[in-house]
Order: sequence, then C-alpha cells, then structure tokens
Amino acid sequence: MQKKIYQFFLLTITSCFIVSCNTSEKPASIHSIYKTSSDSIQTAVYDTSAISEGPEKVAILYGRELFMNTHKLIGPKGTVLQQTGNEVDCRNCHINGGTKPFGMPLFTSVARYPQYRARESNILTIQDRVNNCIERPLLGKAIPFNSKEMNAFAMYLKWLWDCNKNAMKIEGDIPNRIPWMNRRADWQKGKADYAQLCARCHGIDGQGVKAPGGYGYTYPPVWGEHAYSIGSSMHRVGKLAAFIRNNMPNDMDITKIHVTEEQAYDIAAYLNNEQVNPRPDFHEDDILYPNHADKSVDYPIGPYADTFSQDQHKYGPFKPIDDYWKARRKK
Ligand code: HEC
Ligand code: HEC
Repeated sequence: MQKKIYQFFLLTITSCFIVSCNTSEKPASIHSIYKTSSDSIQTAVYDTSAISEGPEKVAILYGRELFMNTHKLIGPKGTVLQQTGNEVDCRNCHINGGTKPFGMPLFTSVARYPQYRARESNILTIQDRVNNCIERPLLGKAIPFNSKEMNAFAMYLKWLWDCNKNAMKIEGDIPNRIPWMNRRADWQKGKADYAQLCARCHGIDGQGVKAPGGYGYTYPPVWGEHAYSIGSSMHRVGKLAAFIRNNMPNDMDITKIHVTEEQAYDIAAYLNNEQVNPRPDFHEDDILYPNHADKSVDYPIGPYADTFSQDQHKYGPFKPIDDYWKARRKK
C-alpha cells in the first residue's frame, strides 16, 4: 500500500501538465495541482498553440519571445531595439517566461496594476512596471509605451492572467517569501556555500558563463558590472533568499531540498554584499521612496523611518523590524 502511494506520488510530481490557454476559452483551474508537498513543485507548460490565430496571438507570441530572448531582440546588440544594458533575459529571473510557480511568476501581474508603488510614490501601470525591470535589473532605458514591444509585453502578461483568472487557487505566485531567519544572514558562510552550490554554473567570480558565440548567457552573472543593480528588488536579501531557495540550482531534482532556508539567506547576503561583490549603482535612491516609512523591511538603502540600523535592514534579523512595523500599522 505504502509503495503504491509512493508510486502515485512519484507519478504526480514527475508528470508535466500542459495548460492550453485560449483567451476566448474558459481556462482551467490549474494551480491547485502545482504544489504536491512543501518541496515538490509542479511546472506547467503554457501552450500558446491553443490561442486563436490573429493579431492578438502574434502579439502574445512576440511578448513571450521578448521574455525568453530579451538580449537578442532588445539587448545591447538587439536586432529590433538596443534597449537593455546587459545581456540578461527576463526569463533568467521570471523563470520560463513567468510561468514557473515560485519562479517569480507573473500569473496575476496584469490584475494588480495600475498600482500605487511606494518606491516611486506614484501610481504605476503594468507598462511602467515592465520598464522598471528594463531600467534596473537589465540596466537599460525605458521603452516607449506606444512601441510594438511594449504592446507585446503587455499582451503576453494579459494572456497569463487570462489563463489564471478563473483558478480557484494560485500557488507560488509573487510575492513569495520564505520565513524570516531568526539570526543575521552571514555572508561569510554564504561565500562557502556559494562555492559549493553555485559556482559550478555562475562562476567563482560571479560573472556567469557566456552563451556559445559570446553574446547572451548560458548562466547569468550574479554580481559585477553586468548583474542586477543596487536598489533593484533582487538586491534585497529576503527577496533574493526566497528566489534562491525555490529555484536554484536550476538543474536540481525538485523533490529534494538543495539549499536550506538558512543557506539561502547566507548566500543572498554574500551575493548582495556589494563591498565584496560589487554591482552597478545608479545613485538614484535619494529620489526613490520619498516616504521612508514605506520601505520594505529588507530594503538595504537608508535613510529609514525607524531606529534599526542600516546593517540590520540589509542582513537582518528582519523579524524584529517586521514586528515593529506591523504593530505600528495596527494602531
Ligand atoms: C546548474 C547550473 C546552476 C547552478 C548550480 C545555479 N544556478 Fe543560478 N541560474 C542558472 C540558470 C540557467 C539561470 C537562469 C534561469 C533561466 O533562464 O531559466 C540562473 C539564474 C539565477 C539567478 C537570477 C538571474 C540573475 O540575473 O541574477 C540568480 C540570482 C541565481 N541563479 C543564483 C544562484 C545561486 C545563489 C545558486 C547556488 C545556490 C545558483 N544560482 C546555482 C543556473 C544555475
Ligand atoms: C535580475 C532579476 C530580474 C530580471 C532579469 C527581470 N526581473 Fe522583473 N522582477 C524582478 C523582481 C525581483 C521583481 C519583484 C517581484 C516581487 O515583488 O516579488 C520583479 C517584478 C516584475 C514585474 C511586476 C510583477 C508584479 O506582479 O508586481 C513585472 C511585470 C516584471 N518584473 C517584468 C519584467 C520584464 C518584462 C523583464 C525583462 C525586460 C524582467 N522583469 C526582468 C526581477 C527581475
């Protein structure tokens, strides 16, 4: 009996669910099947072939292509626009074009914008948010709202939402977090763990591995002048730790834990220690977060509206800061 259950479990976690999303069809409720236990995560394959032919499909497919092959199309030597500053692709962080649960998916993004964003102290549209990622992790220039490319990004994101809007439950959507660790993240421990768990792909120098031909990456850089910048969302230790814990190493057997939560925090602290691992800095944070009280608990750049130190905001322990703000907001 036990063996049967085990076999069933294996079958469930190794099979691949094809999700056909058609904007004119009623999409299936899919996400309740994603996560079969806390450490086995299902990956859905979004089947764009099911979308009805027409200009809408052309835009959705182009949008997906922009996510998957950003550097080729709009990178520094892009064939269409030369917009991003490094050769990184959107899918390097939004895994499989934002369709992997816990892989910074973009299932519901369209539905959450326009949204007030404390960082800019303004209402941002989905197009503004796309440009945020082009400007920061991708070190580029905002693309025009009326361009074919922006339209394609938006249409693709809308399609993801159309695929998901009737789902009963969406697992592994952003923002996804792992619990706060109760100690300060230790970048020196992280350095040792990085060498053991990450360097074989991203390099001991964090520079990644270039794609054959020398343009784009097989393994993206995680620090250095071509990596995400200071002040971008990945530069927050809590956010990065969750990404690492849930997605790296990317060739891992998803049924096993390869990086514990503590290791993920320590490695995140190492990657994001810009003294040992420098990364681009646009010196723009004085204009961001005009209301300091709105900063995320793990936002690494002061000034802050509380009395916790800069070091604690960067490396933790984060829970006391989180508790402090929760208690104040309740009042
Ligand atoms: C087997 C190779 C491999 C290993 C080992 C690996 N990664 Fe990755 N990593 C990748 C690939 C490939 C991507 C891009 C994913 C994609 O495009 O689907 C990636 C993406 C990333 C990203 C986001 C991309 C970016 O531009 O910053 C970070 C951060 C990252 N990895 C950190 C780590 C850390 C930390 C470890 C160790 C715990 C690790 N990786 C281990 C292959 C690997
Ligand atoms: C180095 C990693 C990285 C890369 C590369 C990246 N992003 Fe992001 N992106 C993030 C992080 C981190 C967030 C914030 C996620 C969260 O709040 O949990 C984010 C958020 C977003 C959001 C808002 C999601 C929401 O629902 O609020 C959109 C849209 C987005 N990215 C689009 C893009 C596009 C388009 C590209 C390529 C041009 C891109 N991203 C490349 C890291 C990255």
